[in-house]
Amino acid sequence: MPTSPTVKLNNGKQMPLVGFGLWKVDNATCADTVYNAIKTGYRLFDGACDYGNEVEAGQGVARAIKDGLVKREELFLVSKLWNSFHDKERVKPICKKQLADWGIDYFDLYIIHFPIALKYVDPSVRYPPGFFYEDNKVELSKATLQETYHAMEELYEEGLAKSIGVSNYTGTLLLDLERYAKHLPQTLQIEHHPYLVQQDLLDLCKRRGISVTAYSSFGPQSFLELDMQKAKDAPLLFDHETVKSIASKHGKTPAQVLLRWATQRGVAVIPKSNNPDRLAQNLDVCSFELAEEEIAKISSLDQGLRFNNPLNVSSLVLPLLACEADDDYSTACLSPSSHRRSGGPSVLVERVDIRSDFTVGLLPHCWVMLHRSEARRDHALRMHGTTLKAVHRCCQPCIYDARGGRTYGLW
Ligand SMILES: NC(=O)c1ccc[n+]([C@@H]2O[C@H](COP(=O)([O-])OP(=O)(O)OC[C@H]3O[C@@H](n4cnc5c(N)ncnc54)[C@H](OP(=O)(O)O)[C@@H]3O)[C@@H](O)[C@H]2O)c1
Repeated sequence: MPTSPTVKLNNGKQMPLVGFGLWKVDNATCADTVYNAIKTGYRLFDGACDYGNEVEAGQGVARAIKDGLVKREELFLVSKLWNSFHDKERVKPICKKQLADWGIDYFDLYIIHFPIALKYVDPSVRYPPGFFYEDNKVELSKATLQETYHAMEELYEEGLAKSIGVSNYTGTLLLDLERYAKHLPQTLQIEHHPYLVQQDLLDLCKRRGISVTAYSSFGPQSFLELDMQKAKDAPLLFDHETVKSIASKHGKTPAQVLLRWATQRGVAVIPKSNNPDRLAQNLDVCSFELAEEEIAKISSLDQGLRFNNPLNVSSLVLPLLACEADDDYSTACLSPSSHRRSGGPSVLVERVDIRSDFTVGLLPHCWVMLHRSEARRDHALRMHGTTLKAVHRCCQPCIYDARGGRTYGLW
């Protein structure tokens, strides 16, 4: 039976390098899938309130423990704090509800799912709450990430979570977190695949001792299930000649090569599969070694292509603060963020006059959002009761063009 090696977290706990992701695992099959995954050798399960299947996942775990396949302490159960529970007084109650859903009394790892605070939804009204509050509107909470993180630290100190982490954080958010954290997060979970390598962020985490877990390791594949146009437009990584040729050289599948590319670089993976053969195959991804040149070749497929971007859930409502462009932002140099990483600002693809082409909104996590439509910006301002202010001069790493749906580096 293949098993996963473990990685030592910065608090001394061991986390399996290969786990099983529970997003889009059907409720009807989830308990059996988890049970079979444990039988196959999986020990880490990556769940979340938002996946809506924690009760069933817990049933699979309970059956496996009852049948003697595994002991609770041999499992590494992960869950996530959903956006609607960021207010500090909501964190512990929802964590306890999630524990009750799983039928356990601690999580091995509990993660802030997104650095986005949404208005509270009572679980008796709607659970999981999802992104939209009512009438397809995104409603935000005023909770800061600092407030939420301190509440996570309380869970950690009380032992409800043996480790804590964050997800979908940028490097700048991590640097900010360092200023207020009593305990650094043990892990960062991010979208990571050969089209979105994020080497700077990986390097930063390495220097800080924060372990990285990759999600959506197969790139566009997962988002085809959501009928996402961006995923349909991207060539499948499974069909990419570079990946295919390396796979055939090692007698492995392209999926295994993609997972090995991550694990060999110390990045944990949590592939999801509803298919028993593929589920088994995905666990067997540490038994062969890619050559350094092969790893480099796969990494060179990077395009800065992100599929999971909650900001494009709704360009109709700018989450939070909107600000007026001032002279500092009268022009911006735009280039794909992948170019910025590899070549710096020299790879200029577009220069725009923000004053005439766009209006600017500053998002809570230091993103600048550009809207070509004044009406949309004014709508967002009304939604949040915010008045126009000068553009904040902080460390915005990128610009999101709401209409074009593209992200650019800004300097
Ligand atoms: N923190 C976050 O914001 C966040 C966001 C997204 C995901 N996640 C976590 O990360 C986990 C994994 O990410 P993901 O679900 O987006 O995608 P993924 O694991 O990269 O891809 C899943 C897709 O690949 C297919 N697949 C799985 N194994 C395969 C194989 N060996 N060969 C060919 N196809 C294969 C699956 O189909 P079949 O099921 O038919 O095999 C499914 O279509 C999630 O389940 C979730 O736990 C976290």
